[in-house]
This record gives sequence, C-alpha cells and structure tokens, in this order.
Amino acid sequence: MKIAILKERRPDEPRVAATPETVKKFKGLGIEVVVEAGAGEGASLLDAAYEEQGAQIAPDAAAATAEADLVLKVRQPLPDELPALPRGILLACIMDPFRARPELDALAQAGVTGFALDFMPRITRAQAMDVLSSQANLAGYKAVIDAAAVYGRAFPMMMTPAGRINPAQVLVMGAGVAGLQAIATAKRLGAVVHATDVRPAAKEQVLSLGGKFLAVEDEEFKAAETAGGYAKEMSAEYQKKQAALLAESIPKMDIVITTALIPGRPAPRLVSEGMLRSMKPGAVVVDLAVENGGNVELARPGEIVEVDGVKIIGHRNMPGRLAADASMLYANNLFNFVSLLFDKDSKSLKVDWDDEIVKGTLVTRDGAVVHQALVPTEKGE
Ligand code: NAI
Repeated sequence: MKIAILKERRPDEPRVAATPETVKKFKGLGIEVVVEAGAGEGASLLDAAYEEQGAQIAPDAAAATAEADLVLKVRQPLPDELPALPRGILLACIMDPFRARPELDALAQAGVTGFALDFMPRITRAQAMDVLSSQANLAGYKAVIDAAAVYGRAFPMMMTPAGRINPAQVLVMGAGVAGLQAIATAKRLGAVVHATDVRPAAKEQVLSLGGKFLAVEDEEFKAAETAGGYAKEMSAEYQKKQAALLAESIPKMDIVITTALIPGRPAPRLVSEGMLRSMKPGAVVVDLAVENGGNVELARPGEIVEVDGVKIIGHRNMPGRLAADASMLYANNLFNFVSLLFDKDSKSLKVDWDDEIVKGTLVTRDGAVVHQALVPTEKGE
C-alpha cells in the first residue's frame, strides 16, 4: 500500500497531512509514503526530515499520486488539483461538505472515493481521529493569544506601587472544544472569564474551569443538544432572550471570543453592531466562526476591523496560525484513521464499508455523493 501526501494549494493553508513521525509509523506498518516536495514547509517540516524517516519525495502532485492507493490532504482539493487524482483513488481530508458542495460533486465526478474527516462521528472509538476537536482546541488557545496581543492592557490583576491593574473581563461564547480551551487559556493568563452556550452540558464544564456561566436556561436550553453532541439551531424567541442577556453583559467585557457553530447551518449571529458599539474603546473581539458566516456582525474574514475603538479580529484558519502543532495533531488523527482502513496481515488497504466510522465519513464513492446527510431523502428534503 502506498500513501501520497500533497502540498496544500490554498494561500492561507500552511498545515500538512503528515509529519516525519507519522511517516515513521506508516513505514512501521509496512506502508510506503510519498511526499510532494515542499509539502511540510508551512509547518516547518522540511523534505529531508520526511526522507530521513523513509518517505520518498516526489517533484509534483501527479508524481506523488501516480502509484498511490490513498491521498492524505488537509483541505479539499481545488479544481486544478483534481487532475492529479487518478480515478479510483481514496482521499481523506477536511471537506467542509455542507458549504463546499460543488467541490464535492466535482470530486465524485473525478471518481475519487472521498472521506470527509470533519464528519467524524463523535463516538469514543473515533476520538483519536477527530480533526475538528484537535484543530478547534488549538484555535481556542490561539484566539486568546491573538486577542491578548492587540489588547492594550494586561490580563491579570497586578498590585503595583504605581497603581492597581484590574483583571481583564473575558466572555467566551460557545463553550465547545474551542471555547473550553479559550476559557482555560484566558484563566491561565489571569483574566476573569465568563462563558455562554446553549447546551446544558457546557455549564458544568465552564464552571469546572473556573468560568462564570451565563445563559438563558429555559426549557429549550434543556433540549438544545443533539444525539451527536452538537447544538441545535435555536428558535427566534430564544435568540431574542439570549440577545437581551448578552446586551447587558457585553459592555462590561474587555475581550469577547466567539466560537458558536451549528453543523450544516450558518453560524448563529450572537454579537450585533449595537452590542459592539456598547463596548469600551480598546476592547477586542475574536470571531472564530468568521469563515462559517460569523457570530459577530461587521467581522470580516481575514481582516481586523475597528468600530468605535473596538477591534474585531476575523483571522482565517486559526489552527493554521499554529501550523506545526496543528499539523502534528492532524497527522496523528490521520494515522489513526488510516490504521482503520489497513489490514495488517495482508499489508494492504481493506475498507470495511459497514464500519460506523467509515460510513460516517464517506462522502463520495463510485462517481456519486453518497453520505446520507448530503443526498436528498425520498420525501425530497
Ligand atoms: P461546535 O464547534 O459545533 O460549536 C461550538 C459551540 O458553540 C458548541 O458548544 C455549541 O453548543 C455552541 N453554540 C451553538 N449555537 C450557540 C448559540 N446560539 N449560542 C451559544 N453557543 C452556541 O461544537 P464542538 O466544540 O465541536 O463540540 C460540541 C460538543 O461535543 C462538546 O461538548 C464536546 O466536548 C463534544 N465532543 C465530543 C466528542 C466525543 O467523542 N464524544 C468529541 C469532540 C467533542
């Protein structure tokens, strides 16, 4: 069996799908690895480091995939990358399947069997393959670090002979994987941390990290978590109550980090322009959902916008801002996923199409989009 690791083409994507360590582990299983030249550069991983662990270096993508059974990437291929993917090849990467539907159709037409790692089921067995979690954790950390870097004040309380510095008041909206790491990071820096979410399970987690929980805890809140562990889209009535609660708290905040997402839907709008204008000059807002429609009005992907002295950070690809660690964790996720598709006895690819993880992530096969969340039901939904 042979795996190809391709260089990412998107200008804002420095991550890579394998590290020298995972190459070594693949080789240990008896799997050959071909790495496209320069694939790891954005994550400070040079070709020589891959070669040292037994990888072959290929001059371009087509040469890397020519004899490969499986391609590992970070992001879904762009149209001009498709010619390098031979028909029948397997591909595992982050596909963003709900929003990138035309790209998915093109992948199916190219005859690629595609696994969307962002569809990983949230079951215990799949935790070590969960790329959304491994990347969101780093994004939550980096959001706080980026906020601290542009905030013109300190985070911790300091008693000095020259005067007292008050601790920063931080509000984290969405206390999932990214939000919990943002809470922990802001606490470590000495801030007073508040957090909000619509899932009741988040409350205890916030409190256990030393955060103060802030939410409309009505009947709808009690039923807001899906069986998959994600949030539901809340009713207009709930959103109104939530907005009223947040409007009271936001003017007191120095830093707001938003992370709220709903699978398959645009991110909920949590911070309005009015709320932004109610904040103190010098306050900083980081919208981690900016590429999914945004939690914050006026946030712009890839920009830092200033409104009445409040900075709104909309960095794209937050995990990519920690490319080395993000690649390391992502590559480990992929190694664990590939282990599932590999038969150690015959040393070859052997996919169990009935496995819950395989079924949960498989999005294209035999020229068609096949995932149940992406094909219309008989009722035409
Ligand atoms: P996510 O990235 O989809 O959303 C981020 C957060 O935003 C979630 O906590 C969600 O409840 C919240 N949110 C959505 N709408 C909101 C609104 N209107 N207002 C405020 N907050 C809102 O979720 P994420 O971070 O990927 O994970 C969700 C849960 O799944 C977490 O509790 C996590 O611990 C759990 N999980 C379980 C795994 C397992 O294997 N059992 C693996 C990974 C995560």
